[in-house]
Amino acid sequence: MNFSQYIVQLVDNLFLTYRLGNENISLNMNIDEDIFFGMDTAVPLGILINELVSNSLKHAFYGRDKGEIKIELLREENGESKTKGCKSTTFTLSVSDNGVGIPEDLDIEDLDSLGLQLVTTLVDQLDGELELKRNYGTEFIIKFTVRGNTDQELAPAQYN
Ligand SMILES: Nc1ncnc2c1ncn2[C@@H]1O[C@H](COP(=O)(O)OP(=O)(O)OP(=O)(O)O)[C@@H](O)[C@H]1O
Ligand SMILES: [Mg+2]
Repeated sequence: MNFSQYIVQLVDNLFLTYRLGNENISLNMNIDEDIFFGMDTAVPLGILINELVSNSLKHAFYGRDKGEIKIELLREENGESKTKGCKSTTFTLSVSDNGVGIPEDLDIEDLDSLGLQLVTTLVDQLDGELELKRNYGTEFIIKFTVRGNTDQELAPAQYN
């Protein structure tokens, strides 16, 4: 499926859902065009984006009247790997906001709430790496690699 198109619809819908009280939250999207993923990648990635953007809309701007949410999905071609003709592509997803920030004392590895637990589990499922920056607001950076070219359906590397 064309994930670049899907992500725009998904985020538009989330903004509609959480529009009450978030009228002045702006959205900044930087998504590489024509990113195709197989379902093994698209499903976990879609849920991840859903959780992270929902969190920004629900928690980041509490007591604030404006702010920005930024979503980036960028590809980086890795070239030919040792296995003949088998290319891989690394993607970086970043979901950030300039809101109040995740509370200092909150350990995202050890949570009772479901959302961020789901996020760490799904990043593992993608065989990806998760980085959380708490400098200005909140930024989640997820890097993952899929086998294949971008013009064919991509599956997580571990399934090939
Ligand atoms: N972008 C953010 N800005 C500020 N605080 C955040 C942000 N994302 C998460 N948090 C804090 O981290 C906590 C845990 O998030 P998590 O998604 O796990 O739970 P939740 O959103 O409260 O519930 P749910 O299970 O419905 O997702 C939140 O309750 C909130 O305090
Ligand atoms: Mg949540």
